[in-house]
Amino acid sequence: INNIRIALDGPAAAGKSTAAKKIAEKLGFIYIDTGAMYRTLTLKAVNQQVDPKNEQALYNLLMNTVIELKPGEDGQLVFLDGREVTREIREQQVTKHVSDVALHKAVRSEMVKRQQNLLKNGGIVMDGRDIGTAVIPDAELKVFMSATAEERARRRFEEHQSQGIQSDLQQLKSEIEERDFIDSTREVSPLTKAEDAIELDTTHMTIDEVVNKVTELAAERG
Ligand code: C5P
Repeated sequence: INNIRIALDGPAAAGKSTAAKKIAEKLGFIYIDTGAMYRTLTLKAVNQQVDPKNEQALYNLLMNTVIELKPGEDGQLVFLDGREVTREIREQQVTKHVSDVALHKAVRSEMVKRQQNLLKNGGIVMDGRDIGTAVIPDAELKVFMSATAEERARRRFEEHQSQGIQSDLQQLKSEIEERDFIDSTREVSPLTKAEDAIELDTTHMTIDEVVNKVTELAAERG
């Protein structure tokens, strides 16, 4: 397979990053989790008590922030100004505010610029909300991964259980739905399926089935 660019979008907890990681491994591609970039800025904003509603303050903060994604043994490692924050950015405090941080135009255009700088020569799987619509509008393969909110909440719940993290299924479901609502209704590049994206309803699919399906599609295009 040639070095194509795969854009993987979809709502929260649809299994995008788990699938993207495995697809990249299988194809020998680079994997970039763009949600981690928004989460990292959010973590810094929370720590410095910057209001997630204050676009100018967030933009200034971002301009003074170094976000790095580096391949690690167990997937991608995330660094905030040189400090590893891979786990911290998944915490509740960050998840709660990330969609508010990500809705601002100034924040998004800077993030999109940084993401486009990571593209280089293809051979990439990038996951997020606006990859097929804004970051790589001419991607060779665009996949929009969906699943019912019930199923996504159930998967997140199981993931938490296996990590020994206490959580409540109903609460997870409402958090997921709230994040989807903000992401899909924002003015700047809202979460939406690109016209030329292939929709994959993963509600009844295993991760391996998803990975196989996407690598098949990639092979058709590579
Ligand atoms: O993918 P993940 O769930 O970690 O993303 C966290 C949040 O970051 C999303 O809910 C969304 O608000 C924002 N995001 C975005 N555009 C992207 C990736 C993530 O707005 N490309």
